[in-house]
Amino acid sequence: MNKESSTLNVPLQNIVLHKISKGLVIDIGGGGEGLVSRITGARVCAVDYRISEIREAQIHNPPANWFVSDGRALPFQDSSFDIATLWFSLGYMNEWSVKKAVLTEVFRTLKSKSRLSIMASRIDCKEHHLLFHAHFTLPDGTVSKTGYGVRGNQNQTENTICALVREVGFKDIQSDNHDWWFEVKAFKR
Ligand SMILES: C[S@@+](CC[C@H](N)C(=O)[O-])C[C@H]1O[C@@H](n2cnc3c(N)ncnc32)[C@H](O)[C@@H]1O
Repeated sequence: MNKESSTLNVPLQNIVLHKISKGLVIDIGGGGEGLVSRITGARVCAVDYRISEIREAQIHNPPANWFVSDGRALPFQDSSFDIATLWFSLGYMNEWSVKKAVLTEVFRTLKSKSRLSIMASRIDCKEHHLLFHAHFTLPDGTVSKTGYGVRGNQNQTENTICALVREVGFKDIQSDNHDWWFEVKAFKR
């Protein structure tokens, strides 16, 4: 099998999602399953640079606010949001320069004393592609079954993302490891 077509299939992950605390939320890469919008509704500004992915998320009809925009150039003023979420979207940004540019832009649009919530798959395999299979249970009990197909071999791990979050300026960084995926929480002081 040539390298170009090698794919790592991650065993099915059962992930329970929780409500997001009070405040205005910016959700980067908010298309696809639209998990954050489905959980938090009208408090969310969901950003995705593919209208097709936004359309896919709108199938669930969450009352969110949708923006077709690249996360590297967000159409929002400084210090606009209380919470920023990147749930399984960093893996769709293959290049580290893009991951960093997006997190830097997110930092700009966050108020002080605001929060960052990242959920991401571990992508340190040698295969060219990685397929992350997940059953998400939303706070209302709905189960969302999906698979995220991303480029493999991105050196995207709990440690490398924590280091990037720190480099961008976030503080009080905490992370949880779930083997094939991880969470990072941090604050803009
Ligand atoms: C497929 S979704 C998966 C995660 C999503 N949060 C969900 O709830 O299912 C990831 C999205 O990130 C978007 N994306 C990738 N890079 C981006 C960027 N630089 N700016 C905005 N959106 C981006 C992709 O278009 C894709 O729709």
